[in-house]
Amino acid sequence: MDIRIAPSILSADFANLEAELNSISDADLIHVDVMDGHFVPNMTLGLPIVKRLHEVSRVPLDVHLMIDHPENWAGEYAKHASSVTFHFEAASNPQEVISKIRQSGAKAAMSIKPETSFDSISGLVKDLDMLLVMTVEPGFGGQSLIESTISKVSQAVSFASDEQLELSIQVDGGVTAENIARLAAAGADTFVAGTAIFQASDRNAEINRLRSLAEKA
Ligand code: DX5
Ligand code: ZN
Repeated sequence: MDIRIAPSILSADFANLEAELNSISDADLIHVDVMDGHFVPNMTLGLPIVKRLHEVSRVPLDVHLMIDHPENWAGEYAKHASSVTFHFEAASNPQEVISKIRQSGAKAAMSIKPETSFDSISGLVKDLDMLLVMTVEPGFGGQSLIESTISKVSQAVSFASDEQLELSIQVDGGVTAENIARLAAAGADTFVAGTAIFQASDRNAEINRLRSLAEKA
């Protein structure tokens, strides 16, 4: 799997999103956090903004839905993104959400919160393009990575290898230059970073530094 760096625009200036996209042009994906104030306590942005981001961004969008009833929305977001991630904990019928994402032409990904075990979702992995292992509690940027989540990355990697599945593994939350090598060594290939990239004085340089640290691990 190619290593991919996905800056989270949760840490961007929401009044200047197009300019902010230009400052992260070396990214492999643009990670867009959609929060509904129900599944998570925070609210961010919705479909109209994702549509415009898709129109102006030269980098594909990776939409992370932290919303209840993802089956009602995932297909619409998937029309404007290269991948859409929903939360296992929010989906009454994960297969239905996966189908809706794929019918709109995007890659289908599912996320698990820190307290959700890999074993509880392993049966669904064969139907996914990507698994997102949350490394913080979803809802807010700027948190510290929860170390105990890293073992789920290794579990997912060995499961996918045993089953001969092509599964991308994404991590999101508290990813920094200090811990990215360990996450890559555990088998993650797609790395979301908000604070680490947007606080850097040269954001593209930080994206390239994170990518090279992960590639060397
Ligand atoms: C948290 C979001 C993350 C967040 C990551 O719920 O899903 O994508 O923006 O931000 P940092 O890198 O600051 O932890
Ligand atoms: Zn996210």
